[in-house]
Amino acid sequence: MDNEATRGQGDLFPEIVGRSAGLRKVLDLVVRIAPSDSGVLIQGESGTGKELIAAAVHRLSSRSKRRMLAINCSAIPENLLESELFGHEKGAFTGAERTRRGYFELAAGGTVFLDEIGDMTLHLQSKLLRVLQEKKYVRLGCTETRAADVRIIAATNIDLKEAIKDGSKFRLDLYYRLNALPVDIPPLRERKEDIEDLLLHFLKIHNRSCVPKTPCFFHPEALALLRDYAWPGNVRQLQNLVERLILTTGGGELCPQHLPAEFRQAQNLPALSPAASSAALATESRCGASAFGEQGFDLTEHVQHLENQFILAALRSTGNNKNKAARILGLNRTTLVERIKKRRLSL
Ligand SMILES: Nc1ncnc2c1ncn2[C@@H]1O[C@H](COP(=O)(O)OP(=O)(O)OP(=O)(O)O)[C@@H](O)[C@H]1O
Ligand SMILES: [Mg+2]
Repeated sequence: MDNEATRGQGDLFPEIVGRSAGLRKVLDLVVRIAPSDSGVLIQGESGTGKELIAAAVHRLSSRSKRRMLAINCSAIPENLLESELFGHEKGAFTGAERTRRGYFELAAGGTVFLDEIGDMTLHLQSKLLRVLQEKKYVRLGCTETRAADVRIIAATNIDLKEAIKDGSKFRLDLYYRLNALPVDIPPLRERKEDIEDLLLHFLKIHNRSCVPKTPCFFHPEALALLRDYAWPGNVRQLQNLVERLILTTGGGELCPQHLPAEFRQAQNLPALSPAASSAALATESRCGASAFGEQGFDLTEHVQHLENQFILAALRSTGNNKNKAARILGLNRTTLVERIKKRRLSL
């Protein structure tokens, strides 16, 4: 994979794709903090690659010969999470039929990755703080103290500082312990240079694994729409979209009309001028031309798409004023409002 970020890092991150300055900064930081044994707090929106970065920190650390165990703190009820982390003795609670070792024991010499740490209860937060401060823990139902030889990497997609302010949902002292080495992953919309690399990367993987009859490739107009999209679900959303496009089209060229409506509506709105109008039509017809072949051409859908673009452009240019937008478009207000509602158009 032709990957600037990777090349810059001497091939240290073959699994991480992207060349943006934002991602490169994160990878530089990973290289610097990996050898330390301090806690790491990875923050970033959902799907930005927090678990991938956690695995990279572990892989480049002196603990890499032992394993990294990951646990999602929001997916498991408190008592189960407690016993998963600390282990329990036989008879420690109803149903504890045999002694079980916890993650701090199973990952000894390695790393424990605490995902969605923001959802951990205050009771468990105080127990975790003790592990971090004293490097010791006890199994549930036991009095014997054990040494905790694990590095803690935590991740969250909520703002912990807000959770601390907001009626103490999160302990400030634990935050400082975990946040010894902070890593903030920017959302994909702030590192647009990564979008194309990621699209082509996942396309290549899926082309290989799904064995479509014809390999998929992006029409330049589709690529442009995808590059401009805001990707609220970040890399995970991008990965899912590529998979869905390959499965639904069955291979061949991926054109704008293959993309879900939100990709076509919110982006690249034409200015309200005859020149822009014919440019938009030319764009559509270029792409449509390649779809006339096997898959046919849905005129109604294309006309509606174009109409949506003009409605959105009119709304944008009038600061979302429906009266003014209706006048510009030569529609009466009720018709415009109905169309906006029916097609779920929003700025
Ligand atoms: N830069 C990247 N290069 C290649 N794959 C990536 C990259 N970033 C993320 N991914 C992939 O995107 C998916 C989501 O990443 P990951 O699970 O690490 O995100 P996350 O931030 O932990 O998400 P969540 O908050 O939803 O748990 C994974 O399949 C991961 O491998
Ligand atoms: Mg995750």
